Amino acid sequence: MEKVILQRENIYTGSLVLVNRAYRWAAGSGEDLEPVQSGECDILMQRMAVKLLTRLMGKINGWQRIVPVSGWRSGKEQREIWDHSLAESGREFTEKYVAYPGHSEHQTGLAIDLGLKQENIDFIRPDFPYEGICQTFRQKAVQYGFVERYPSGKEEITGIGHEPWHFRYVGIPHAMIMEQENLALEEYISFVKKYPHGQKVYSFNKNGMRAFISYLEAEQGQTTVLEMEEDYPYTVSGNNVDGFILTQYETMRTILD
Ligand code: DAL
Ligand code: ZN
Repeated sequence: MEKVILQRENIYTGSLVLVNRAYRWAAGSGEDLEPVQSGECDILMQRMAVKLLTRLMGKINGWQRIVPVSGWRSGKEQREIWDHSLAESGREFTEKYVAYPGHSEHQTGLAIDLGLKQENIDFIRPDFPYEGICQTFRQKAVQYGFVERYPSGKEEITGIGHEPWHFRYVGIPHAMIMEQENLALEEYISFVKKYPHGQKVYSFNKNGMRAFISYLEAEQGQTTVLEMEEDYPYTVSGNNVDGFILTQYETMRTILD
């Protein structure tokens, strides 16, 4: 057994953090960020998200017809977007399409807004239709760890209007499970809690990949000790609420076709 010591503040980082109106982004920002396209691009995301996005865009030749519109935002920038939208478009629109400052996924570096390449691109609500190259991207995205974060029909759960353009990196295989089970991130965080580490495990088996997922509640004190079998690679992500999501990979073959 390998012992992993998790600090309380580790619950605020990782690819599965839940950031919404109820849970603010508590971790610092700005580390581990990279441009999503090489060259002059000033749109940034976390390194791992960039890696997978680059791979996906390469596969479908996506950057020929898709543009990145907004990636990582500082808290100050989110505040400016909020204030500007409030002044220009009013409160109802703003609450529907702009996360409250401090509560935007864009502050994590794990979210990106994408738009169909065209002359005029709306910064708050870019076109990203359910057809053509955008739909090809959307259908492939889950295999690469990205979900459409604010789908139609889940507005009551996410607290945000339908946003066809906003994608969130949650990691592999979590995006695939969320799609398969039709779960928004809020629901997925609750779903994983049905598999307490050491008692029950969610086992994922698809496309040549086998992974085991479980949940570990953070101790009230400062540290939580996690015991992992040494044979398999694993990741640990905080959920930004109260604990950790563990993913142990048994095989990871040809998932990125
Ligand atoms: N448009 C999304 C909700 C944001 O502002 O983070
Ligand atoms: Zn967005």
